[in-house]
Amino acid sequence: MNQPPWSNSVLSDPLLDGFAALIYAQSGIRVSEHKRALLSNRLRRRLRATGEQDFSAYFQRLRSLPAHDPEWGHFLQEVSTHETYLFRDEAHWQWFGGVFAAEHSAAARRGRRTRQLRVWSAACSTGDEAYTIAACLAARLSDLDSWKLEILGTDLGAEAIAHAERGVFSARSMRMVPPVYRRRFFEENRREGTWTARPVLRRMTAFRRHNLMTPLGGSPFDVVFLKNVLIYFDSASKRVVLEHVAQMLTSGGYLVCGAAEGVFDLLSGFDRIQPWLYRKI
Ligand SMILES: C[S@@+](CC[C@H](N)C(=O)[O-])C[C@H]1O[C@@H](n2cnc3c(N)ncnc32)[C@H](O)[C@@H]1O
Repeated sequence: MNQPPWSNSVLSDPLLDGFAALIYAQSGIRVSEHKRALLSNRLRRRLRATGEQDFSAYFQRLRSLPAHDPEWGHFLQEVSTHETYLFRDEAHWQWFGGVFAAEHSAAARRGRRTRQLRVWSAACSTGDEAYTIAACLAARLSDLDSWKLEILGTDLGAEAIAHAERGVFSARSMRMVPPVYRRRFFEENRREGTWTARPVLRRMTAFRRHNLMTPLGGSPFDVVFLKNVLIYFDSASKRVVLEHVAQMLTSGGYLVCGAAEGVFDLLSGFDRIQPWLYRKI
């Protein structure tokens, strides 16, 4: 079979700059020159899918599309990193399940708070973080059915969100899930070697595409997880995202970040509890 003319081509300097500018404007992600080969590989998949002649034609097409066109979701899916897995960063889940959820459960039993929690997994990729949140709440809240629980997972990537909605995870994604949680909250599909989230988790979770560079809107959250995404942003974009996220937290609500995401100097109006945990004042 004949190879298409672009099958081995890499982005020229002007096109690399052009795509990098588009990616930055659409997502806040900075693409460096070192990513030329990687970006070229990933864009070839979009050429294949769209039938465009070459990088230049695809670039012109993208530039002419309105922001809500589905191609943007496919493009941004290709150009960002989606690495994730359930129960990533053990300390975060020890705090969320063992401290946050346990304390809320005890306070609700004593009638000191309502049985309602909203949690946002911002940049959730394939949903692993959102299902981990759901599993921790299901395990730690007593009288689970009496709670109104809403976990929203959002991401820029169209395929990532479709995957999250399916709630099916590979053995690799499941490798850190404690065995008790695995048996209780997931069903094994032996033939495929995958695990499906049970209805108890799915009832609490909803997913949708959203760009963190724009405000989310709606009711505020008690906790926001914003992990392993700001590392790809420069300070200006980080500031924009953190402002949008701070707006969506209740007073006294928590922000969970990756420890290396450099948010400390950019956040105001928060107490630092751990290098990765902040509380809105
Ligand atoms: C490495 S994953 C992190 C997943 C999960 N939070 C974790 O820590 O395991 C980064 C995700 O950020 C998403 N992302 C990048 N820029 C974004 C933006 N501007 N708005 C929303 N999501 C974005 C990517 O699509 C990708 O799925």
